[in-house]
Amino acid sequence: MSTFVRNALTLRPSIACKSIQVAVIGAGNVGGTLAQRIVERNLANVVLLDIMPGRPKGIALDLMEARGLEGHERFIYGTDDYAETAGSDIIVITAGFPRKPGMTRDDLLKVNTEIVVQATKKAIAYSPEAIIIMVTNPLDVLTYLAWQASGLPPERVMGMAGILDSARFQTFIALELGVSNADVVAMVLGSHGDLMVPLPRYSTVGGVPITELMDEETIERLVQRTRNGGAEIVELMQTGGAYYAPASSVCQMVETILLNKSRILPVASYLTGEYGLNDIFIGVPTRLNCRGVESILQLDLTDAELAALHASAEAVRRQIQRAHELQPA
Ligand code: LAC
Repeated sequence: MSTFVRNALTLRPSIACKSIQVAVIGAGNVGGTLAQRIVERNLANVVLLDIMPGRPKGIALDLMEARGLEGHERFIYGTDDYAETAGSDIIVITAGFPRKPGMTRDDLLKVNTEIVVQATKKAIAYSPEAIIIMVTNPLDVLTYLAWQASGLPPERVMGMAGILDSARFQTFIALELGVSNADVVAMVLGSHGDLMVPLPRYSTVGGVPITELMDEETIERLVQRTRNGGAEIVELMQTGGAYYAPASSVCQMVETILLNKSRILPVASYLTGEYGLNDIFIGVPTRLNCRGVESILQLDLTDAELAALHASAEAVRRQIQRAHELQPA
């Protein structure tokens, strides 16, 4: 090889540029699929971490080997060492156990609290400037506990769930009416659980609220299917739960933050009086940008909708209390 070619191909670390990096903690199906979505959309490099060292390394190598075929230049590193996540711009926490058939998301509280709190502390120690996105269930409760463990301002901690629940509602509306998903905007607020709050009045097809397009019985059927959306997939799969749509939902948040898009998305955000709720993370329409949660959009809810949101918040509060009892600080 000529000296010229050799020089041109030699990496000079001194001029290496800082790349945008997302740390994905937990290399299960959601974590692995999320890593794939992030790199294949060319959004960031990904460090995929798991306590089982072989799995993230294997997924990373597999994704690296697909780079030429998928036509992107992003790097994926697999590791079990938090030091290698250092300097991440976003930390996504997917670590923990998924549901088994018959379990509610709240049944996971005991097993997942310790995992998530430890993961948060270790990850944020190496990336103190990062924004945290929680994915592990029970989502709203663990977002709160991760926020406490992180010591971050609340606008830099949030949970993914409303986007997923809204995507499910959107899909069921589109299928029912035989229209494109692209023309359906669906809105689901509240906790990611049995008490989530789908809002038909704010869910539209071509700008028209679905309350003008379907009878109450049909809407209620779609609402119930949305509430049961995660469990329906757990029942079908028997081992593990959904991961394609959850990964897509997190990826939308990652993209919104990294590209500073200022989108309004249903996100589990910290409330300080909005909707009459305080000191809780729960799904509300949130303006997201590069700083994290920029603001919360306050919808004009009916008494019944507001009561449903408060009931959802109360259930989350009880679970936070339970987690604190299980795990004194
Ligand atoms: C679900 C899990 C991610 O709803 O909670 O599928």
